Amino acid sequence: MIMSNKKYVIGNWKALPNTPAEAEQILDFLSGHVTGETAASIVVCPPFVYLEDVAKILNTTSLNSFIELGAQDIALSDEPSQTGEVTGEQLARLGVRYVIIGHSDRRWKLAESEEIVNQKLKRALQHELTPIVCIGERVRDDQFEQFLKQQMAGTFAGLSSEELRMCLIAYEPVWAISTTPGARPDSPDETRKALAVLRPLAPESLLLYGGSVNRSNADDFLAIPEISGILVGGASVRKEEFVEIIKQAA
Ligand code: 13P
Repeated sequence: MIMSNKKYVIGNWKALPNTPAEAEQILDFLSGHVTGETAASIVVCPPFVYLEDVAKILNTTSLNSFIELGAQDIALSDEPSQTGEVTGEQLARLGVRYVIIGHSDRRWKLAESEEIVNQKLKRALQHELTPIVCIGERVRDDQFEQFLKQQMAGTFAGLSSEELRMCLIAYEPVWAISTTPGARPDSPDETRKALAVLRPLAPESLLLYGGSVNRSNADDFLAIPEISGILVGGASVRKEEFVEIIKQAA
C-alpha cells in the first residue's frame, strides 16, 4: 500500500475497454498528462485479460513510479479446481498490489454471498494484496444504516484489527453507481452520514467513496475530510476525464 497523505484515485475499468490497444491508449494518455509529483496515489484495476499487458507497460515506463496495479476480483482459494478463476498467487506474481472485493456487480448480479466475499478478503490478505472492499446499500431508506452495519459485520467477520486496518473500504451505494438505472451521485453531506456509520466499525481503515464520480463532482468528494480517496468506474476509462479527476486529487 502507498503510505502517504495523498488521496487515492482508483480506476475500476470493469469490463472495459474492448481492446488491448485502447487500454494502452489510456495509459499513454496518463503518462503524458500526469507526473509523479502532482499525482494522487493512483491505482488502475483493468479486467483480468489486460493485467499482464498493463503490468508490462507500468514496469517499463515512468508510470511505474506513481500508478499501481489492481485486480477486480480474486479466486476463493489457490486450488486448481476453479475453472474460470484467477488465484491470488497468480495475481501477486503479475505485480498486482490491490484487489477489489465485494463489488456490487458481484454481490448482486452474480449473487456473491457475504461468506464468499469474506473468504476472498482473507485470501487477498494472505497474498499481501491490499483489499479495496466495497460496501453499500441498494436503497437509501430508513433501514440503510442497519443494512450497512450488517454488511460490514458479514464482510469483515473474523478479521483481526490489524487485518482490518490493511483494508481500504469503499462506500459505494449501489443506487449511485452510474450503470444503475436512475443513478445519481450521493451528496457529500449524506456520504458523511454513511461514513459515520462505517467509521466505528473500522476505526483505522481508510475510507473511500464511489458512485458516479466524474469531473464535475470529484473535488466535492475529495474535500470531505473523512475520505481518503475515490473509486471511479465509468469515468476512469474516459482518459481525458480521468486525468482531470486525478488532478483534482493532487
Ligand atoms: P461509476 O463511477 O461508473 O458510478 O462506478 C462506480 C463503481 O462501481 C466503481 O467501482
